[in-house]
Amino acid sequence: MLILAIETSCDETAAAVIKDGVEILSNVINSQVDIHQKFGGVVPEVASRHHIENIKSVVSKALAQANIKLSDIDAIAVTNTPGLVGALLVGVSYAKGLSFGLGVPLIPVNHIHAHICALFLAHPKLCEPFMPRGELVADTAKREKQAPPAFLCLVASGGHSHIIHVKDFTDFEVIARTRDDAAGEAYDKIARILGLGYPGGPLVSKCAENGDENFLELPRVKMADSFDYSFSGVKTSVINYVHTCRQKGEELRVADICASFQRAVNEALCQHLIDAATDLKVDTIALAGGVAANQKLRELAEKFANDNNMKFYCPSAELCTDNAAMVGCSGYFNMQAGTTADMSLNAIATI
Ligand code: KG4
Ligand code: ZN
Repeated sequence: MLILAIETSCDETAAAVIKDGVEILSNVINSQVDIHQKFGGVVPEVASRHHIENIKSVVSKALAQANIKLSDIDAIAVTNTPGLVGALLVGVSYAKGLSFGLGVPLIPVNHIHAHICALFLAHPKLCEPFMPRGELVADTAKREKQAPPAFLCLVASGGHSHIIHVKDFTDFEVIARTRDDAAGEAYDKIARILGLGYPGGPLVSKCAENGDENFLELPRVKMADSFDYSFSGVKTSVINYVHTCRQKGEELRVADICASFQRAVNEALCQHLIDAATDLKVDTIALAGGVAANQKLRELAEKFANDNNMKFYCPSAELCTDNAAMVGCSGYFNMQAGTTADMSLNAIATI
């Protein structure tokens, strides 16, 4: 079964061809980072316009790299939520046109679920507890027998910091979320105040390589009654420190600030994930989403998992940041579960 997947939720125009849910035949990404860099962040209207300009050639490239024709495609998967509504609409409209023209099913995909599905692409072993590959039948009795253990996944991106209990390929329960900024958003804001550029995550982590992570003592917020995150405190502490230095005309130790910030955010991300896994008696943790491309976060999560006798999984950095391969995988499992859409499918900014 061949799925053509389309992703346009933010500033990446992406298309991929996925075979039987988990085999990547092509994964093409056209990034608009250079365009948005001069504005210090994504400008929604500009993003939509560039998606319109790029989508046709990105899809053609994905088909060519997979060495298939449009007529070989069995279904079209598309991210329809959450994201920038104008950007999402480009992908959704294009996917609808293809689905209608080819007479193949249209599958809606939730972007956060797609990030989780990057784990199924990267680690076939993670599929096994649910169902051996190729046996994704709707046999509930068999499914129940083989289902648990599930895993707990941190999805950390520019818009979300969710801890999600993954119980099946399509059964995702949100255990915790951020009460304010997402982790990626905090990285981006710190990069901006330090004048490093956009997107902030990779730039902050690059700067942090030569820094002292104990330079600033920064807060880690822990709620008494939940595993929710809050990153506005650590962000504001850094911003206040930077302002004070600038007012006093003191030299800004950028590398040390970045390293301290990175440590505080990563420790909070990992600690809540481990605490939630311990509470739920889940023995496997995983990372997904753009922030999971952070090497220090990957190392720390693995260490936390080892120290707590838990298994740890994370996709490659390329599958953590936005791409369409993960959308194709999620679309496959949605279709197996009977979730398809008709021509009334809409783009939804938030869910
Ligand atoms: O998942 P993603 O590509 O797009 C969204 O769904 O938002 O995540 C983008 C976010 C940005 O905030 C970016 O700064 C952050 O992921 N990011 C990183 C790294 N690479 C990307 N954050 C920390 N370290 C990185 N290496
Ligand atoms: Zn994303």
